[in-house]
Amino acid sequence: MSKAGTLDLASGVGGKIDKNEVLSAVDKYEKYHVYFGGEEEERKANYTDMVNKYYDLVTSFYEYGWGESFHFAPRWKGESLQESIKRHEHFLALQLGLKPGQKVLDVGCGIGGPLREIARFSKTSVTGLNNNEYQISRGKADFMNMPFPENTFDAVYAIEATCHAPDPVGCYKEIYRVLKPGQCFAAYEWCMTDAYDPNNKEHQQIKAEIELGNGLPDIRLTHQCLDALKKAGFEVKVLENMGVAPKGSQRVQAFLEKAAEGLVAGAK
Ligand SMILES: C[S@@+](CC[C@H](N)C(=O)[O-])C[C@H]1O[C@@H](n2cnc3c(N)ncnc32)[C@H](O)[C@@H]1O
Repeated sequence: MSKAGTLDLASGVGGKIDKNEVLSAVDKYEKYHVYFGGEEEERKANYTDMVNKYYDLVTSFYEYGWGESFHFAPRWKGESLQESIKRHEHFLALQLGLKPGQKVLDVGCGIGGPLREIARFSKTSVTGLNNNEYQISRGKADFMNMPFPENTFDAVYAIEATCHAPDPVGCYKEIYRVLKPGQCFAAYEWCMTDAYDPNNKEHQQIKAEIELGNGLPDIRLTHQCLDALKKAGFEVKVLENMGVAPKGSQRVQAFLEKAAEGLVAGAK
């Protein structure tokens, strides 16, 4: 697929939504969010509508600015954006220990950029699952209720997708169910650090802005995601415990994040 141009961007806004209905869809989408007076319970109860409206509205922007993979990636000096994105995808494939011929599931696959790259890189057969009709023509399914029998896949991964789940335990349980016993699930998940204070107005505002701009029903704390994985049946290995990063790495990450907060605050 070639890179989307400005015309593709403009004509694609709204996705499957009738062009005359786009403005009212924007209205409805915004009203789901705290930023516009919306409630968390409403977003969770209507997550299919909320998240699908979001992706119908934003997919052409994503393709224009990002290409075929819709996720962040840490970028090294001298590396292009596309190279850093591919490296991030290869890293995930390596962490999963994928072997040629294995059956792998990509949960929330977007328009399939990571799926194609990981399948080529690891010589595996990757099935993509997505509940947004505009982004996908086949394999349309909700990750809260997957159309696969149990024990189907040798590996499962999710890249910045399960953050859209209204209930993380329900979503991870589905992943656990379709994964063969003893096999691995790897994810790049969106989480908040423990520095989030639910009574701090500024924190509330930042959280509401991120939810609005990314179609999220709620952003969970890291430990809530880890607990949800355990409740679903998984044994959790963070990279630090797997020996990839030395002990203390998460503490270094924490003080670097503090520095970023200080730099942003100092620049105001
Ligand atoms: C930020 S995009 C990431 C897409 C892809 N993983 C990538 O990195 O290019 C999140 C994806 O999750 C999908 N998604 C959100 N909620 C879903 C659900 N309930 N079931 C299946 N897919 C879902 C969206 O449609 C979208 O494709």
